[in-house]
Amino acid sequence: MISDKMTRALNEQVNREMYSAYLYMAMSAHCSQEGLKGFANWFMVQYHEEMLHAMKFYEYIQRQGARVKLAAIKEPPAEFESPLDMFTKTLAHEQFITRSINDLMELAIAEKDHASQIFLEWYVTEQVEEEENDNDIIAQLKFIKDNPQGLMMLDRELAGRAANMPTDFSKGIESAMAASGA
Ligand code: FEO
Repeated sequence: MISDKMTRALNEQVNREMYSAYLYMAMSAHCSQEGLKGFANWFMVQYHEEMLHAMKFYEYIQRQGARVKLAAIKEPPAEFESPLDMFTKTLAHEQFITRSINDLMELAIAEKDHASQIFLEWYVTEQVEEEENDNDIIAQLKFIKDNPQGLMMLDRELAGRAANMPTDFSKGIESAMAASGA
């Protein structure tokens, strides 16, 4: 079982992860519009990752016998100045998500909620990878600056990012992850 306070906090995190998916979907749409198909692919793969993150929280709340309560998802921005602008905003958003995961972990520790601590460890590790990925791409974009050839090369590289996470959650997270090899 989990406390009412933990249930509320986990439901809030479902919303943050859904907003993350929405934000990266908006960035993907913007990149497609700009003809940056590789960047669009990267952000669409990221969208799927965020849906997985949201669904893992959703399932965990239910497995604990608690109630899922969904809230409205905030509208994401539609316009972005440049790929660097998008990745700078992505990193800032991921740092916000990292802080929210840390807050959840602090709550789980304060409540001596061992199950939630174990569950949240996956997200603690995941956030390190997310921030690292963003930092790597920001470094490349700063190196490229306004060089169109460099931007096209990075676009081709990002086109290769494959979605190796589940996209069908109808049979539960664990079977979906096993089926996708994630
Ligand atoms: Fe779900 Fe990008 O953190």
